[in-house]
Amino acid sequence: MMKIGMLTSGGDCQALNAAMRGVVKGLTTNVDELEIYGFENGYKGLIYEQYRILTASDFSGILTRGGTILGSSRQPFKQMRVPDENGLDKVEAMKSTYRKLGLDCLVILGGNGTQKTANLLREEGLNIIHLPKTIDNDIYGTDVTFGFQSAINIATETIDCIHTTAASHNRVFIVEVMGHKVGWLTLYAGVAGGADIILLPEIPYDIDKVVEAIHKRTKDGKGFTILAVAEGAISKEDAELSKKQYKAKVASRKYPSVSYEIADQIQEKCGVEVRVAVPGHTQRGGSPCPYDRVLCTRLGSAAAKAIMDGKFGYMIAMINNKTKCVPLEDVAGKLKTVDPDSQMIQEAKRIGISFGD
Ligand code: F6P
Repeated sequence: MMKIGMLTSGGDCQALNAAMRGVVKGLTTNVDELEIYGFENGYKGLIYEQYRILTASDFSGILTRGGTILGSSRQPFKQMRVPDENGLDKVEAMKSTYRKLGLDCLVILGGNGTQKTANLLREEGLNIIHLPKTIDNDIYGTDVTFGFQSAINIATETIDCIHTTAASHNRVFIVEVMGHKVGWLTLYAGVAGGADIILLPEIPYDIDKVVEAIHKRTKDGKGFTILAVAEGAISKEDAELSKKQYKAKVASRKYPSVSYEIADQIQEKCGVEVRVAVPGHTQRGGSPCPYDRVLCTRLGSAAAKAIMDGKFGYMIAMINNKTKCVPLEDVAGKLKTVDPDSQMIQEAKRIGISFGD
């Protein structure tokens, strides 16, 4: 009898169910007896022994369903070593649940923070397989994460919709795109949506350069301008501040996010109407796009193979269109950011896209 546990942790995305289905189908097709423990709401379920025993049929018909059938929660890595309000040692509790149930392996689906805890559990002796989930695409060691492509589609659709109304009203529009501290989603959605200006955390912007780009468009007879702004975009001045100073500045900012500050500055400097559109969590919602369904089916199937081969302590990555087991210790705690000198940025600049630098 093989016993596996599974959990989804951190912000959800469209293809979590598709990935779990891939793992389970891969195992049930090849293993005679399988018991699946689905922990509820991320690491919480593992800590507090909240789980459901699932069967293959629970994973049937979920390829196209967004969200996660297991539920999710954010359990910050920093808090993992801090006892809960009742003094419970969370790491010991997770180990105890794993051992009590006699699990052979725990499959963990999540982003960077989730991966750090997965690596901690590996160090503590548990058999771990990690699947790289996030719309942010910021997991080091894999070319792509699942959720990213589906989120690009949604953010691009938003930019497409904004395009038509911006053109009708001759307005400057900012579309604020998710992505946490990195600009992958904004870069891809911005290019796909034909944004004129793209602001990323990796390329601190100069507001005067942004204004210059808008003026140039006006001079060229373009009545409207679309900016794709990453939620983590940062000005050149702010990039000079220490982490602490920047945090304090953000906390005292009168704007709900950086986009509104940029909108105000453009309005003041250009004397034009600026509107902000924030698709927010819609970028994580709905069904996974076909690309993500294929990606998750492949990653899930590769995870099943790793488990059957007894290969534990790995993230299942996609590198050059090949699935690969990457040691968790080599990637945990590292962030994959956009390279400002990359070919893609150079190509975007060549066709006139401004990055405000
Ligand atoms: O990591 C995914 C993500 O959607 C980020 O892009 C965003 O900054 C964050 O999660 C939002 O988190 P929450 O769902 O906790 O508001």
